[in-house]
Amino acid sequence: MASIKVTFVQVDGVEKAIADAVPGESLMELAKANGVEGIIGDCGGGCACATCHVYVDPQWMAVVGAPDEIEEMTLDMVSDIHKSNSRLCCQIMVRPELDGLRVTVAPGE
Ligand code: FES
Repeated sequence: MASIKVTFVQVDGVEKAIADAVPGESLMELAKANGVEGIIGDCGGGCACATCHVYVDPQWMAVVGAPDEIEEMTLDMVSDIHKSNSRLCCQIMVRPELDGLRVTVAPGE
C-alpha cells in the first residue's frame, strides 16, 4: 500500500512531515504519535475540546471537507482564531486522497 504523507506546520514554523500515515487514524492521533507541538487532543478525539485545531491549506479544503455542525459548535469556543479553513483534526481521518496534505497548527489559548 502506498504511504500517505501529511505535513504539520507548527506554530513556531517548524514543519513535521509524516510519511507513514495510516488510513483510519485521525490526524490528531497521527500528530500526537509524532510529537507535533500544539496538538493536545484533550478530549481524546471527541470533538469537544478544540485543542486539535488546525488550519487546512486552502487548496486542500475541497478534499478535506467542511466541518459538520457539532464541530462548528466546538470551533466556536475558539472563535477569535477560527478561520474559514479551520478544522478539528481529530475529525479528519487519514485516507489515500489526503496524501500530500498540509495543515498548520492553530495557536493555543
Ligand atoms: S481532540 Fe478534542 S476536539 Fe479534537
